[in-house]
Amino acid sequence: MNNARTFIEGLPKAELHLHIEGSFEPELMFELAQRNSVRLAYGSVAELREAYAFSELQDFLDIYYQGMSVLVEERDFYDLTHAYLRRMHAQNVRHVEIFFDPQGHTDRGVDFTTVIDGIWRALQDAWRNYGISSQLIMCFLRHLDQNSAMRTLDQALAYKDRIVGVGLDSSELGHPPSKFADVFARARREGFRLVAHAGEEGPPEYIYEALDVLHVQRIDHGNRALEDPALIERLAAENMPLTVCPLSNLRLCVVEDLRDHPLQKMLELRLCATVNSDDPAYFGGYINENFVAVQEALQLTRKQIIVLARNGFTAAFLDAPRRTQLLRELDDYVAAHP
Ligand code: ADE
Ligand code: ZN
Repeated sequence: MNNARTFIEGLPKAELHLHIEGSFEPELMFELAQRNSVRLAYGSVAELREAYAFSELQDFLDIYYQGMSVLVEERDFYDLTHAYLRRMHAQNVRHVEIFFDPQGHTDRGVDFTTVIDGIWRALQDAWRNYGISSQLIMCFLRHLDQNSAMRTLDQALAYKDRIVGVGLDSSELGHPPSKFADVFARARREGFRLVAHAGEEGPPEYIYEALDVLHVQRIDHGNRALEDPALIERLAAENMPLTVCPLSNLRLCVVEDLRDHPLQKMLELRLCATVNSDDPAYFGGYINENFVAVQEALQLTRKQIIVLARNGFTAAFLDAPRRTQLLRELDDYVAAHP
C-alpha cells in the first residue's frame, strides 16, 4: 500500500479505548506537579520516560497510578483532557469514547465532581471548537473490591447525563469479570452501556464471563479470544466489537513483536476489530501511530484500513444521525483518495 501513512493521517477516525489518565504526557505531569506542589518519584521528564520499560501490565499500572497523583483541581482534569483532544483534532479523530478511573482520584481525596467537571468542560470545548463528539465511560478498578465499585456507581448516578457507560480495567489476572457481577447488573438496570477489559492478559474464560455474566456490549482488547475457536465464532456471529490496542500490546509484552499481532487474523475471522491507543503517553503512540505501526508490521491492505476505521464508527455509542454523518465523512474521504 503506497502512501499508507498519509492515507491514515487524513482518514476520519473514532477512538473507543483511551484512558484519559494514560494520555498524561510527562511534560504536563511535571508542570502540574509543580503547580500543585506534589512531589513525583522521578527527578525529570527524561528519568520518568526511562521508567517506561514494562514487562507486563502491572509494571505499567504501578507507574500510571503514581502519575495520577498530581491531578488535584478541576482545571488539572480540564488541561489533561484538552491536551488529548487537541492532538486528536490534529489526527482527524472525529469521535472519542474516553475512559476515566474515578477511584484513582476519589481514593486520594479528590471529589468525583472535580474529576468529572474538568473532563466534561474539555469535552464540551472540543465539540464547540473542533467538532469532535465524545462519550465518557467510567471504569471500575478491578483490583479493588465490589463494594468500592458500588460506591462509585452511587456517585455516578447524579451524572447520568454525562456518563454513557461503565467499564472494568486495571490488573486483570486474578480479578475475573464475575467479581463485579452485582455492580454491573445494577449499572445495567440504571441504563448504562457496558464494556470490560478482557483477554488482554486474562484467559478466554474472562471474555465469556464479560459476555455472559456482565452482559457487555464491547470487549476491550480481547486478544486471547483467538485461543478459543468457539469463542471466535460467537464473537463474529454477535458482531461483538473488540477495541484492540496494538502499541499497548507491544509495550506490555502481550505480543513479542508487532508482526505477531492478531489484528489481521481478527479481520480475516470477520471479527469487528477497531484500532485504539489505550494509554498513548506511555506506549509511544496515539491513534495514527497505532494504525501506521500495525499497517507496516502486518502489511494491512487499504481495504483493511478502511474496515478498521469503519468499525470504529459502527461500534461507537453514537446516535443514528451522528453515526450516519461520520460514516458519510469516511466514505467521502475514501472516494476522494482512490
Ligand atoms: N488501565 C489503563 N490502561 C489499562 C490497560 N491496558 N489494561 C488494564 N487497565 C488499564
Ligand atoms: Zn485499556
